[in-house]
Amino acid sequence: MRVAVTGANGLLGGEAVARLAGHEVLALGRGPCRLAPGAFTWRDADLGDGRSVAAALREFGAQAVLHAGAATDVDGCERDPDLAWRVNVGGTEQVARACRALGARLVAVSTDYVFDGERGPYSEDDVPNPRGAYARSKRCGEEAALLLAPDCAVARVAVVYSGRPGAKSTFATQVVEKLSRGERVNAFSDQLVSTTLAASGAARCLELLLETSYRGVIHASDATVLDRVEFAGRIARRFGLEGEIVPVRTADVKLLAPRPLRAGLKVDRAAALLRHRPLAIDEALDRFHAEWAARPA
Ligand SMILES: NC(=O)c1ccc[n+]([C@@H]2O[C@H](COP(=O)([O-])OP(=O)(O)OC[C@H]3O[C@@H](n4cnc5c(N)ncnc54)[C@H](OP(=O)(O)O)[C@@H]3O)[C@@H](O)[C@H]2O)c1
Repeated sequence: MRVAVTGANGLLGGEAVARLAGHEVLALGRGPCRLAPGAFTWRDADLGDGRSVAAALREFGAQAVLHAGAATDVDGCERDPDLAWRVNVGGTEQVARACRALGARLVAVSTDYVFDGERGPYSEDDVPNPRGAYARSKRCGEEAALLLAPDCAVARVAVVYSGRPGAKSTFATQVVEKLSRGERVNAFSDQLVSTTLAASGAARCLELLLETSYRGVIHASDATVLDRVEFAGRIARRFGLEGEIVPVRTADVKLLAPRPLRAGLKVDRAAALLRHRPLAIDEALDRFHAEWAARPA
């Protein structure tokens, strides 16, 4: 099958490309390819320019598209809401229109930030209330995908992390790196979250894309909901690291964009539908640890 992945240099998109052996794969990203060499075609295409991603999908003749590209810097989006809108809504719109024209199946990746964080964890039936430019742009991107692409699922993930070589720095990797250097780690004690090991989330998104005809929203994070102090503590224990994890309250840190506090995603639907079930946190951290151990020294 001809499968395209946007955001292919990203945490989730990169994992997806690595898992697509046996398919004809178009990897779309901004600028040069940062992935390990593999059997895919790379194309530099900007989700914000209104044309190039759609043109690449059409030329490739995509039959299935995992749309994982997005402006993901939450405070950066708050600083530049026009860019957030252009990439996260306009970019999703052009991907969805191209899928419609091609008759291609689409899975568009979204976020727990569509919820306000008053009463999480949330199911797919809970009503979103996005706060902040990133959150609003992702919620509108969801609607664009569902409205414009007839064969579409929206897969929401949360707090994505990866231990793979070259994967971008995240809270989880910073916990490992800081504690390894003997530095203390600040962690929000009042942010309740779901987490998503990128490999685990990518496996579910691809299964959804290629092996199901599910339409609508589905929560595709891992299974455990926990606060960030607990997340950091579990990472430290799994890596055999000691050191100080300092609980911090969100309101005491100057962040530009609002953060949902009681967030988290209920994943019963994904657990019932998919072979790649949402992982419990300790199972996810075992895999994270194995990815980390395989990094070149
Ligand atoms: N990361 C999280 O914690 C998190 C949480 C909830 C939901 N999500 C959602 O999950 C999906 C995948 O994100 P991720 O975790 O893989 O984050 P990521 O590593 O930041 O990946 C996003 C990718 O999109 C690319 N991108 C950004 N602007 C672009 C543009 N104008 N044109 C083309 N590509 C562009 C980025 O390119 P560069 O690599 O060049 O920056 C990056 O590779 C997104 O829909 C995101 O909203 C992520």
